[in-house]
Amino acid sequence: MNHYRNVFYAIGISAFTISFFFTLFFAYKAMQFDQIIEKKTKAKKTNAHYVLISEELNNEYWRLVEKGAKAAGRRYHVSIEYNGPLQSNLSEHMKLIDMAISSKVDGIITQGLSEEKFTPLINKAMKKGIPVITVDTDAAKSKRVSYVGTDNYRSGYLAGKALIAGTNGKAVVGIITGSFEASHQKLRVEGFKDAIKNKPGIKVVDIKASNITKVQAAEKANEILSEHPDVNAFYGTSALDGLGIAQVIKRQGHEKKIYIISFDTLPETLQLMKQGIIQATVVQKPYKIGYESVKLMHEFKKGRHIPSTIHTDTGILYQKDIAKGDVSP
Ligand code: BGC
Repeated sequence: MNHYRNVFYAIGISAFTISFFFTLFFAYKAMQFDQIIEKKTKAKKTNAHYVLISEELNNEYWRLVEKGAKAAGRRYHVSIEYNGPLQSNLSEHMKLIDMAISSKVDGIITQGLSEEKFTPLINKAMKKGIPVITVDTDAAKSKRVSYVGTDNYRSGYLAGKALIAGTNGKAVVGIITGSFEASHQKLRVEGFKDAIKNKPGIKVVDIKASNITKVQAAEKANEILSEHPDVNAFYGTSALDGLGIAQVIKRQGHEKKIYIISFDTLPETLQLMKQGIIQATVVQKPYKIGYESVKLMHEFKKGRHIPSTIHTDTGILYQKDIAKGDVSP
């Protein structure tokens, strides 16, 4: 009888010990599993989300900025959301920035289109701990952490010098600008005017705004030509202005008589340069602007020091240079 009891106890104790160890084993495994899930969620959390807001969503120039930004996003494992008004519109642009602030993104990359109107918005984001980097157009008096883009005044100045050289110091000029409100457009005109101010042979007779569209640039160029038939040179200060001006000049058969200096190196601009309709253009680096802005934002989030201004390369591309190639975005 005793023997059976001992066997019974032995079985009981072994069963208990085995189940105890199994319980420990599975508890340990469950803990490990939880840790893996936690690590994965944490990894997801560190995948920052930056938003790039441009003044016009489908503008070809901005698509290049987006491309550069997304390439840097892949390189630094951050997600880039690209957004912007369908057509250039200051208040819609500002609404999008405000929405990005409300949705607590990890960083905002945008233009400081109007120093006066954008500064409070940029400062609001900064106050809420959302860093802002301005691209293409700066709002230097705001609390933005950095600016990446062309030195807009200088680029306008270079355009002025190029026009003097290209017209032998004698020209009656019409200007088509993207906007009278946007600071970068104003600076491009200011730089241009300063460059020609000691050249009595160069006269600016009119300036009209295109709202950065090719259609309006063509319309305004047409108006300038009918109001000032002596105009023999045009300066277009945003990417599609030169294209609109060229359209009118071609239509009127004035290719040989009118000098055009435009902005940017979009494929259509280069094509028009090859055809001898646009004589020179100001080079900007939209892809690089996008790439560098994301890289900077990433470094800033890591607590590293970043410069407050990075001026990307600018210069003049002349018709004769086109044959030599190398005009990377
Ligand atoms: C400017 C951009 C602008 C674009 C319009 C570029 O030259 O740098 O700010 O949105 O032209 O086409």
